[in-house]
Amino acid sequence: MELDGQVLRMSGVTVRRGDAVLLRDVEWTVEDDERWVVIGPNGAGKTTLLSVAAAQTAPSAGTAHVLGERLDEADTQELRSMVGFSSAAVANRVPDSAVVRDLVISASYGLLGRFGEEYQTPDHSRARALLNRWGAAPLAERRFGTLSEGERKRVLIARALMADPELLLLDEPAAGLDLGGREDLLRRLAVLADDIDAPTPVIVSHHVEEIPPGFTHGLLMRGGAVVAAGPLEQVMTGEALGETFGLTLKVDRHGDRWSARAV
Ligand SMILES: Nc1ncnc2c1ncn2[C@@H]1O[C@H](COP(=O)(O)OP(=O)(O)OP(=O)(O)O)[C@@H](O)[C@H]1O
Ligand SMILES: [Mg+2]
Repeated sequence: MELDGQVLRMSGVTVRRGDAVLLRDVEWTVEDDERWVVIGPNGAGKTTLLSVAAAQTAPSAGTAHVLGERLDEADTQELRSMVGFSSAAVANRVPDSAVVRDLVISASYGLLGRFGEEYQTPDHSRARALLNRWGAAPLAERRFGTLSEGERKRVLIARALMADPELLLLDEPAAGLDLGGREDLLRRLAVLADDIDAPTPVIVSHHVEEIPPGFTHGLLMRGGAVVAAGPLEQVMTGEALGETFGLTLKVDRHGDRWSARAV
C-alpha cells in the first residue's frame, strides 16, 4: 500500500444525517510521524470524525483517504482491520462475560470476544505483551463486566493494538479516569508517541490537560467544523481554544503539558 507518509487525508468532508450536519467541510491531513489530539465541546463532531477515519462512516460529500485508500473506492472491511479503534461505542458492544485475554486476542480476527476460534501461540504471546504494556496483565483472566472504567480503557487500547494497525484512534481514552489513572494513561500514551514503530495515534479529548507529552498536533472543532488545525504550539492559543469552547480562556503551557481556564 502506497502511503507517501499520509495516514489520513480529508478534503471538504461533510457528513449529514437528515437535516443535521455532523461534519462540515473538514480539511485535515495526518502524516505518519505526527501525533494528533482532536479537541472540542460535546457535539462538535469528534466521534463522527473518528468514525470517518476508521472507515466506518462514509462522507456525504468531499473525499476521505484512509491509509492511502479513497474511502468510496476501497475495501472498507480490509481498511477497518488496519485501524485500531477504541471508544465508548466499542466498550458498549463488549459482552460483560467476555474474558479480557480473549477480548484482546480475538481482535486479530476482527471479533469482539472469543467464539471458538483456534488461536496460535504468537497471538497469545502478543496479547500477553500488550496487556502487560498497558498495565493490564493482572486482568487477563477477568471478565470485562467486572472491570473499573480505567481498567476497561487500558484493556480496550491493548485490544485496539492487537491487529498491529497503522493508525490508532482513541475516542476519549481519559474520560472517567481518576487523577492517578489519567496520569498513568498519559504516561503510557507518551511512550507510544515516542515509539517510531507504533501506529500513528489520534486521540479525542475535551480537555487540554489530557494531551499526552510527545503529541505534536491539534485539531480544534466546533459545530462540525474545524476551528484550527496544526502544530500544538500554533493552535493552543486562548483565542482558538476560546472560539472552540465559546469561552474566554487563558491557555498555559507547562513543559510538555497544557492547561486552560476561563478568565
Ligand atoms: N444519526 C444522527 N442524526 C442526527 N444527529 C446526529 C446523529 N448522530 C450524531 N448526531 C449529532 O451530531 C453531532 C456530533 O456528534 P458527535 O458524536 O460526533 O460529537 P462529539 O464531538 O463526539 O461529542 P461528545 O464530546 O459529546 O462525544 C451531535 O450534535 C449529535 O447529536
Ligand atoms: Mg464523542
